[in-house]
Amino acid sequence: MKFFIDTASLQQIKEAQDLGILDGVTTNPSLMAKEGISGTDRVMKHYVDICNIVDGDVSAEVISTDYEGMVREGDNLAALHPNITVKLPMTRNGVKAIKHFSDKGIKTNCTLVFSAGQALLAAKAGATYVSPFIGRLDDISTDGVQLIEQIRVIYDNYGFDTQILAASIRHPMHIVQCAEVGADVATCPLSAINALFDHPLTTIGLEKFLADHKKAAQQEATAK
Ligand code: G3P
Repeated sequence: MKFFIDTASLQQIKEAQDLGILDGVTTNPSLMAKEGISGTDRVMKHYVDICNIVDGDVSAEVISTDYEGMVREGDNLAALHPNITVKLPMTRNGVKAIKHFSDKGIKTNCTLVFSAGQALLAAKAGATYVSPFIGRLDDISTDGVQLIEQIRVIYDNYGFDTQILAASIRHPMHIVQCAEVGADVATCPLSAINALFDHPLTTIGLEKFLADHKKAAQQEATAK
């Protein structure tokens, strides 16, 4: 399973990249706004900065809601860097634009997916990635991971190449559950990735190894 980081923070992207396990980045207009990035020129430069940190796909989302605007914006975004993936919403125009970009060989990510039917449409249009938002489904008492499982079955039934990119991940167990049900990618906040590293028995075990090593070294030094 690929690990993407879900942020527009260059610092967090660098931190995740330094861990040596990062495969890509997803952003959205809310995440860009959180970093105070606005205006076409700044937004475009920010995407290039992200692409220069990570050697993997970087999802850049269009703001337009009309088909022509989506195509124009997507073309501009795709021209920035070969790793840019044009992120389009699950709307009629979004799906039409996904088909357009897919026919042109430009990578796409269909975002704001909340049902298996929507995921089927994204795959039919040739999306590179489909982004089911599992955390937001959990928030309304619906099982987000179950949706990933359902999409996995449908895509495998028909051999769709579209990769399932589990999004709106909130905690480390979401990542593990997505891996169990066969998501291709998990896009995660840095906190959830970092939480995967920790286990109290690892900490205690390492302390014991180091203490035993030190003790043995001291005994050897005393014996000399
Ligand atoms: O990038 C889209 C998605 O991951 C958003 O997550 O936490 O705002 O539901 P969240």
